[in-house]
Amino acid sequence: MIKKVKKTPSLETTDRIIREARPDDAKDFLSYLKTVGGESDNLTFGVEGVAMEVELEAHHLEEMMLSPNSLQLLALEDDKIIGSLTFIAGKRERIAHAGEMAISVLQEHWGQGVGSALIVAFLTWIGSAGTGIRKVNLLVREDNERAINLYKRYGFVNEGRRSRMFLLDGQFVHGIHMGLEIDGGTT
Ligand SMILES: CC(C)(COP(=O)(O)OP(=O)(O)OC[C@H]1O[C@@H](n2cnc3c(N)ncnc32)[C@H](O)[C@@H]1OP(=O)(O)O)[C@@H](O)C(=O)NCCC(=O)NCCS
Repeated sequence: MIKKVKKTPSLETTDRIIREARPDDAKDFLSYLKTVGGESDNLTFGVEGVAMEVELEAHHLEEMMLSPNSLQLLALEDDKIIGSLTFIAGKRERIAHAGEMAISVLQEHWGQGVGSALIVAFLTWIGSAGTGIRKVNLLVREDNERAINLYKRYGFVNEGRRSRMFLLDGQFVHGIHMGLEIDGGTT
């Protein structure tokens, strides 16, 4: 069994805050996802966002807060959501040590270290006693150099190719599985 831990990751810079999402972020988060979805073809959704009712999203965020091994982080600047990192771990015991990570940052803030700050906060949370996380997985478009460089910088390695990750305007786009093994001090 995974032990429940209080999750309070936060990382503050001069004008930005990284914190766990709360149910009352639901409306702003859905709106953020529509904006960021429309800014690139790198995510599993476009400008339509994730098509979720605000109440359901609030419920989902509450479940994420209660989960000991999943995490929804937000990057905020002046109370506006400018970035997001989602990590969802397996629910069954044999796969609860591993999960999928997804990250996004508003285009006007690319290259300012927001993605890096989200990953650092995430890795800090993983290192906190009790998460039990030993493996982080993700899938990235094979031509998304900005994201791949970012992941490599934090130790993620290429674990193989996923063909036909996306079908965009009739064209297949292939992906890369990347993974980060977590060892030492994470029980
Ligand atoms: C990928 C993404 C999350 C990166 O966030 P970010 O806030 O720009 O990341 P950072 O500023 O912390 O770091 C960017 C890193 O990417 C790399 N990078 C920057 N510009 C780059 C470019 N033009 N080409 C390739 N790599 C580049 C660098 O390694 C850079 O780090 P460094 O300059 O400090 O060495 C962001 O660009 C994004 O949201 N893109 C759209 C959605 C997306 O692709 N999500 C990932 C899906 S798998």
